[in-house]
Amino acid sequence: MTYIFILLSIVAGVICDEKDGGKAYRIPLNDGNAIPALGLGSFLGFDENGQKPVEEHEVEYPVKWALEAGYRMVDTAAAYLNEDQVGAGVRASGVPRENVFIVTKLPPQESRDVVASLRNSLSRLNMSYVDLYLIHSTVTFKPDDSGYDIIDYLDTWKGMEEAQKLGLAKSIGISNFNISMIERLLANCEVKPAVLQVEVNLNLAQNKILDYCKSQNIVVMGYTPFGSLFSKEPERPAPKIDDPTLTEIAKKYGKTTPQIVLRYLVQRGVVPIPKSVKKNRIEENINVFDFELTEEEMETLSKFNKDYRVVFPSFWQDHPYYPYEKVDTPAADLFKKKE
Ligand SMILES: NC(=O)c1ccc[n+]([C@@H]2O[C@H](COP(=O)([O-])OP(=O)(O)OC[C@H]3O[C@@H](n4cnc5c(N)ncnc54)[C@H](OP(=O)(O)O)[C@@H]3O)[C@@H](O)[C@H]2O)c1
Ligand SMILES: *[C@@H]1O[C@H](CO)[C@@H](O)[C@H](O)[C@H]1NC(C)=O
Ligand SMILES: *[C@@H]1O[C@H](CO)[C@@H](O)[C@H](O)[C@H]1NC(C)=O
Repeated sequence: MTYIFILLSIVAGVICDEKDGGKAYRIPLNDGNAIPALGLGSFLGFDENGQKPVEEHEVEYPVKWALEAGYRMVDTAAAYLNEDQVGAGVRASGVPRENVFIVTKLPPQESRDVVASLRNSLSRLNMSYVDLYLIHSTVTFKPDDSGYDIIDYLDTWKGMEEAQKLGLAKSIGISNFNISMIERLLANCEVKPAVLQVEVNLNLAQNKILDYCKSQNIVVMGYTPFGSLFSKEPERPAPKIDDPTLTEIAKKYGKTTPQIVLRYLVQRGVVPIPKSVKKNRIEENINVFDFELTEEEMETLSKFNKDYRVVFPSFWQDHPYYPYEKVDTPAADLFKKKE
């Protein structure tokens, strides 16, 4: 019986993950490790004054609640200025470190010494290794943030490989790369990236890059998984939280609209990392592993695609390693401190 179950799990391309109390199964990576099929996002975002400051316990408690609710992965980054709270939340949960998959990212100001930067992240996390280390951005800046520092991501990747060799990161990967950048990296690396993290949601299907990554055995993590679902700005595309198509499917399974959106991504083989700092929503967002959307429903949901990006930093488009199409009028820089 157990044998058949394990066999079926392997055939399905997943490793079941019951021993550690997690609710998400794990997906094998090309380096022999395995990643939970869903994790907690932790970036607090921006307001009119730029990047929001992190208040005491503001991220620590959500991380603890998430692990208690059955999450086994947390996505952070040096740039989020919350790695200390992520580490504290993991310790406060009582879930053993080895059962949690920690993702952090190399900040765009520190590409010239990847190992030193990761050691600083580890000291803030108060951990001896991370499970996954990502290059956050190919758009890179000087250490004092005074402007661009043009660094080829192939050189940065050598530092990532070194970090893995030292055992500081079990797996290494990339974020915000486009297909031609990945092709160039694959043609010039020693260790292949295990993971690509990019925006994926109902309005941004990312069909081409998903197909490409599948062909190269690279797992895709989907950030901003809710897209514009909760946005109150009228110019943002449908669907919104009360969309009739979504609510009808949700009703059929006794689920909520956000749960349908996350399940859709899971069934596409994308690893969503929904962010919430609210306990009830954190619990809601992990409960997507006890039902399955039909092929017809998957097809219906795929029609919301508009190739629309929520995260579109066109203010960086004059950087030579900017990954997206250029526009005539770039947006105002969100990261710039207001005077
Ligand atoms: N690699 C990159 O460059 C990059 C870029 C962007 C994001 N990320 C990562 O991806 C994570 C997720 O992306 P994101 O934060 O941009 O967007 P998101 O997870 O799609 O959406 C987060 C928003 O949805 C709300 N929310 C969450 N669950 C909800 C629910 N069940 N019902 C109603 N509202 C809900 C949250 O509010 P509350 O918190 O108030 O509940 C928050 O405002 C980030 O936190 C970060 O870890 C990475
Ligand atoms: C770091 O973690 C250890 C347990 O691994 C703990 O005893 C210690 O208090 C932590 N330090 C900080 C600053 O949180
Ligand atoms: C991908 O990024 C490169 C910069 O390295 C850029 O030249 C190219 O136009 C980008 N591709 C797309 C489809 O935007």
